[in-house]
Amino acid sequence: MKKITVSAPGKLVLFGEHAVVYGKPCIVTAVGQRMHVSIELLENKEFQLTAPDVKINNYKKPMLEIGLGDIPKEVLFVETAVKNTIKSKKAGLKITTKSEFSSQLGFGSSSAVTVCVIKALSELFNLQLSKKQIFDVAYKTVLGIQKKGSGFDIAAAIFGGTLYFVKAGKKIESLSVGQMPLIIGYSGIKADTVILMNKVKEKFKNNKYSLNKIFNEIEIIVDNAKQALSTKDFLILGKLMNKNQMLLEKLGVSIPKLDTMIVASLQAGAYGAKLSGAGGGDCMIAISSIKNKKAVENAILALDGEIINTQINAEGIRVE
Ligand code: MEV
Repeated sequence: MKKITVSAPGKLVLFGEHAVVYGKPCIVTAVGQRMHVSIELLENKEFQLTAPDVKINNYKKPMLEIGLGDIPKEVLFVETAVKNTIKSKKAGLKITTKSEFSSQLGFGSSSAVTVCVIKALSELFNLQLSKKQIFDVAYKTVLGIQKKGSGFDIAAAIFGGTLYFVKAGKKIESLSVGQMPLIIGYSGIKADTVILMNKVKEKFKNNKYSLNKIFNEIEIIVDNAKQALSTKDFLILGKLMNKNQMLLEKLGVSIPKLDTMIVASLQAGAYGAKLSGAGGGDCMIAISSIKNKKAVENAILALDGEIINTQINAEGIRVE
């Protein structure tokens, strides 16, 4: 029977997390590590999923029950993506996922798997979905599950490169960005994006004025960073990272482990550093001169952080 494999990159947000959920822009880059999804059509009208990275082995149910009943968390994105993409349940599907990055990193594995499933189904059933249409189905899928979110990770997985992005894909602008001396440090702590988005909302529920003030400042940082990226001004980018980090701290999403990794990076000579993503764990990023890169990496390692080596500006979704 027909079979197809699709892959999509993970993501790393450079500037503007959290504010992007409230309509401000952010800058996100696609990373070299990819998610791979294979889908094979079956004659027996069964839905089968094997996702070893999240310990799902041979999960099965009738196609007619897709999206119904108790669905394990690790299966939810794949199953909901199928439900939202194909109406006809005449064929069965054997889906296998394989990730080059851990779902613990905050690199957007749920979004990457969601877009891969939609693209693979579009190819198998000749739906001819455009990238924007894949974005819309994927965003609907993720919002249906998480109830909130900006969708930048979906855009990075589909379009690749480095993007200037506004919530729900209102703006998806490709930035021309070269390589840069970026250091990625993983805190070893798994963050829950929804919990952190709710934390921000709760903290400022009686202080919308302060929240808007922070978001307006982040918007200016993002716009300045867009400019500095185009001129490859790493020193300015570092300063903007530090400013963005101060505002993320005000939002209450940084944690001591990230703070110490960030301070150590600066002491080792980085131009700037900040958390990347929802906060509460996951990764931090730093930018430095090429000369100081090793020293910054060693400072992160000395705090039991893990250095994640990756390429940025990676290619978006593709059929393998
Ligand atoms: C999480 O990686 C980034 C947030 O801005 C959430 C989102 O944009 O969906 C906190």
